[in-house]
Amino acid sequence: MPSPLPSGAGAPYSPSRKFSTPPPCQKNRTARKSTRCEPAVTHRSSLPPPGPQAPSDAPASPYAPAPPDPDARNDGRTLADPVALGGLQLPNRLILAPMAGVTDRTFRWLAKRAGCGLAFSEMISDNALLWANAKTWVLAAPYPGEDPYAVQLLGKDPDTLARAAVLVVEEWGAALVDINMGCPVPKVVKNGEGAALLRDPSLCGRIIERVHKAVAGRARVSCKIRLGFDSPSSLDVARAVASAGASFVSVHGRLRTETYSTPADWEGIAGVAETLSRGPERVPVVGNGDVLEPGDAVSMLARTGVHAVMVGRGALGNPWIFSRALSLARTGDPGPPPSAAERVRAAIEHLDALVRDKGERGAVLEMRRHGSWYIRGLPRAAGVRSRLMRVSKASEMASILEDYLDHLEHPGGHVDSTRKDGPSCPTSDV
Ligand SMILES: Cc1cc2nc3c(=O)[nH]c(=O)nc-3n(C[C@H](O)[C@H](O)[C@H](O)COP(=O)(O)O)c2cc1C
Repeated sequence: MPSPLPSGAGAPYSPSRKFSTPPPCQKNRTARKSTRCEPAVTHRSSLPPPGPQAPSDAPASPYAPAPPDPDARNDGRTLADPVALGGLQLPNRLILAPMAGVTDRTFRWLAKRAGCGLAFSEMISDNALLWANAKTWVLAAPYPGEDPYAVQLLGKDPDTLARAAVLVVEEWGAALVDINMGCPVPKVVKNGEGAALLRDPSLCGRIIERVHKAVAGRARVSCKIRLGFDSPSSLDVARAVASAGASFVSVHGRLRTETYSTPADWEGIAGVAETLSRGPERVPVVGNGDVLEPGDAVSMLARTGVHAVMVGRGALGNPWIFSRALSLARTGDPGPPPSAAERVRAAIEHLDALVRDKGERGAVLEMRRHGSWYIRGLPRAAGVRSRLMRVSKASEMASILEDYLDHLEHPGGHVDSTRKDGPSCPTSDV
């Protein structure tokens, strides 16, 4: 059993003592600007580069320019406007949600390239970090140049979380440490972590206070909550973390006991935003839940009065949700959804980037899900998906996707996405 890492600022720690083979990108710790670990791009992407997007010139749009919304609570702010979340400057108000098993650095890189203003890591256990589990180190690593780097931590003890926060700030240069206060998974809740914290607003406050103090001047602290555990309690939790130093609070509009079949309660989110906007700290709120299409993102910003919108399932196999939502906010037109061929090309690029970053085995396992999400709803997708599930080599997976692409692009055999909008939400898969 390895010893836990020494805690405290500037604690001497040599990663080479902990690993027989260094975790990927470890060599970049002191040279974060290096591009050595940057996911490789071998296929020309249909995704626009990060930053302001050119207005779409698509002639036909199913979207009419949005009329002024009489119920709007967003004071004229649009998704495409920059925002300062408790001092953290973001180029726009679209945020990728933390998703375990999904938002690794490759996924974040793809989402940022598609225009999202901030992307959260998967949740990382504080104890796993402090015990220097090699797999956890990989989870915790940013891609070179990732800025701001936002890490979500899972835990329940203020001191342990603070030590883990110091580690990600010092080792990886995290600019934002988010505390998970919403994970509903039974094992997590039984351990008193995630959504279990919602039952104790005072503990939530102590956690934020301790973590905030530990990284003060070097990183910001936020938390992601739900509307409550089994009954609404978010206002107490939100007030507690706001007065303890949270830079912002992300609110998933469901109780812990509710599943995705219950629609997210945007009014509940609006209530938290309203409460915190009136509090002495005026802490911004990020809204989350059921933003599955570009129009949902625009609506949530307008209807809830949140400062920014967080997208989870809507981004699975669908990085275009960010570029299209920004286009919709800027021009009233999200532009056309990605064609079937663009979606398959993006899957091939994602596979390639994952192989470079995680090696063949990890990439193939992960691409089974990502690949399914990219092609969901396309012609012959079920057959392609079942073939993707059976292969164990990246080259075989790439061949399946290339063959599929050939089929889609073959003259006379071209199959385009026939839906009005982009890929449907893969809710049932997650
Ligand atoms: C596959 C998956 C993994 C998730 N992992 C996390 C996580 O690690 N931390 C977290 O706070 N929420 C996690 N969530 C919840 C999402 O961040 C988000 O709150 C939820 O999906 C609602 O947003 P949506 O309707 O946009 O999907 C996860 C959700 C999914 C689908």
